[in-house]
Amino acid sequence: MTTHKPLVFSGVQPTGNLHLGNYLGAIRNFVRLQQSYSCLYCVVDMHAITVWQEPAELRNATREVASAFIAAGVDPKAHIIFNQSQVPSHAELAWIFNCVARIGWLNRMTQFKDKAGSNREKASVGLYAYPNLMAADILAYRATHVPIGEDQTQHLELARDIAQKFNTDFSVPDFFPQPEALLQPEGARIMSLKDGAKKMSKSDPSDLSRINLNDDADTIAKKIRKARTDPEPLPEATEGLKERPEARNLVGIYAALTDTRAEDVLREFGGAEFSRFKGQLTDLCVVKLGPIGAEMKRLTADPAHVDAILADGAARARAISAPILAEVYDVVGFIRARS
Ligand code: TYM
Repeated sequence: MTTHKPLVFSGVQPTGNLHLGNYLGAIRNFVRLQQSYSCLYCVVDMHAITVWQEPAELRNATREVASAFIAAGVDPKAHIIFNQSQVPSHAELAWIFNCVARIGWLNRMTQFKDKAGSNREKASVGLYAYPNLMAADILAYRATHVPIGEDQTQHLELARDIAQKFNTDFSVPDFFPQPEALLQPEGARIMSLKDGAKKMSKSDPSDLSRINLNDDADTIAKKIRKARTDPEPLPEATEGLKERPEARNLVGIYAALTDTRAEDVLREFGGAEFSRFKGQLTDLCVVKLGPIGAEMKRLTADPAHVDAILADGAARARAISAPILAEVYDVVGFIRARS
């Protein structure tokens, strides 16, 4: 049995503001994984256009996500940061996976159901086939580890199914690895500040529902002050958070930002009123996010510099994925010119 070289791949869509959920669920982990793995971090602009994007805004948002990776601490020289559309392997492999994945599999994807809503007939075909492109992103590099938030685990399961079916259909055992999700113990599912039953999301119409990575200190303070809570003080132990989704979310955010667990936070704040806890949480958010927001601003002020980083990353990404795609084409039976 071949063992695949450990490699990390993950992607973030350039659609609207990056928020605390993206940071605590994914980007923060991107930074840590650099110590132990080779990593590719991709701004998935081709995923973004599965719903309408204004071209000029898409360009800016792409640079902003790349800047967020760098501002958070990803090293674009030691690792690879690039935008998806600059590497044709993603689209090429996605087409093959469109022919491997089954309609029944895609019909089960809850994110499509949520995003398409009641008007499915009007959703783009791309939105439906989106998880196949995500599988291609990962497998075009034979990536073995994928840092994501909890909302992406179903898509990762599908990528595993696609890898397995390809290997079986073409009798090439171990051709593609079974990529593994890497989830954060706290932070994998950050909820809306306005509704503890809904995840924090870029598409929520209320900006008060999320903390954006580029919010200033006053905005962060206002959003946390206005965050929904209940009238009880914080409980002494995590069982006391069970029926209190908003309290659980704020405690989870505090735990994630301090690299501790909810029980540690309650050991410190159990019995405290929300007003005190919210004050401490605000200070913490400002300390952790302020420097990232400031660095993002500095980087996005020089678009040519960011574009150069993306172009360099894309060239290195192509060098890894092109030979894998050539092998895929041979396996599938496509004729190609030999160099
Ligand atoms: P996207 O752009 O919606 O989100 C980027 C990352 O942030 C995580 N995330 C969250 N984590 C915790 N709490 C939240 N409220 C929250 N909201 C978002 C997401 O789980 C994700 O890890 N399909 C992906 C992008 C993608 C991808 C890939 C990821 C495309 N190809 C290949 C990994 C590998 C997406 O839409 O993420």
